[in-house]
Amino acid sequence: MTDATMPVAVIGAGTMGHALALVHALGGHPVRLHDVSAEALRRAPLLMADALATMQEAGEAPAGWTAGRLAAAVTTTHDLAAAAAGAGLVVAAVAEDPEVKRQVFAALDRVAPDDAILASNTSMLDVFPLVPERRLPRALIAHWYTPPYLVDLVDVVPGPATDPAVTERVRALYAGFGKRPIVLRRFVPGFIANRIQAAISLEVNALLDAGVASAADIDESIRHGLALRMALMGHLMKADFTGLALSRKILANRSYTPPVATGRCATLERLVDAGRTGVDAGAGYYDYGGRGAAELFRERDRKLFALKRAWRGVADIAATPLDDPPPGPPLPRG
Ligand SMILES: NC(=O)c1ccc[n+]([C@@H]2O[C@H](COP(=O)([O-])OP(=O)(O)OC[C@H]3O[C@@H](n4cnc5c(N)ncnc54)[C@H](O)[C@@H]3O)[C@@H](O)[C@H]2O)c1
Repeated sequence: MTDATMPVAVIGAGTMGHALALVHALGGHPVRLHDVSAEALRRAPLLMADALATMQEAGEAPAGWTAGRLAAAVTTTHDLAAAAAGAGLVVAAVAEDPEVKRQVFAALDRVAPDDAILASNTSMLDVFPLVPERRLPRALIAHWYTPPYLVDLVDVVPGPATDPAVTERVRALYAGFGKRPIVLRRFVPGFIANRIQAAISLEVNALLDAGVASAADIDESIRHGLALRMALMGHLMKADFTGLALSRKILANRSYTPPVATGRCATLERLVDAGRTGVDAGAGYYDYGGRGAAELFRERDRKLFALKRAWRGVADIAATPLDDPPPGPPLPRG
């Protein structure tokens, strides 16, 4: 069995699991998808077929894929042992609950091949204490973003006992899918993108609560002030272009104080209490004029694929990253 064709078991067929089954199938792997919920297993093939159709409409599906080929590539099963039998890679996408994850790892330990790699899609949990010890050298986190057939980032995070060769195999596998895996040196809750997103959320919530600007103007600032340059350069290369002496001065001035994380945002609570929970309800920070969620998600995905196409046409600015600093102490927090 080579990595290019190894069977993949996906455990959990919900929001992430069905889409991860699709991504691994399109990557060329036979996939067995397992869930304890009959309803999740019934819906998963329909959701995968829909997602494939969206990709095809955008010209983003690999050539030669039909709904029939997808149905043959991904089989669903209520039987965990049948899902895991012969798997080279087991992708765990079950509920974000430590006890559920512990039970699933324990069950997998009984039925998965000894040499299977266990990859958890956890959003925030340090799963390594939940994995049976003998499996730890072949266990890691591979954290995807939704929908994973559209967002290319994958956070690959080894645990303290993960064999570096396993980390590299998973990174190379997903790079081979055309994804953009990054390897963290150690686990931190939220990885990189979700930590940065959490910091942005704190600031945006504080601006909204203080009435500094409207929701639409805050989004204008992000889209037209930050996102364009960040899409090309990220944050740190963007800082190189601004000049690091200015970055140092701004930091030293301490004119910016991050909001205190109180766990509450009055604006958000007002919206949720009014039933404005987002596109599923037809309104959140914006009103979507009676358009249904499915239509809105389709429009979003179509436009994101178009943006990615444009993005791919622009080469990165050539540069060599700074030599990596040595691993430091835990992240300081105020
Ligand atoms: N939804 C996202 O945007 C997102 C993004 C990245 C990571 N994640 C992470 O991915 C994981 C799954 O999230 P989701 O959004 O797909 O959740 P979900 O609730 O949509 O799906 C979870 C599925 O796991 C199944 N499940 C529960 N216990 C099980 C068991 N013992 N065996 C087999 N299946 C079981 C449930 O029936 C359900 O279908 C979580 O750890 C989550 O934090 C979610």
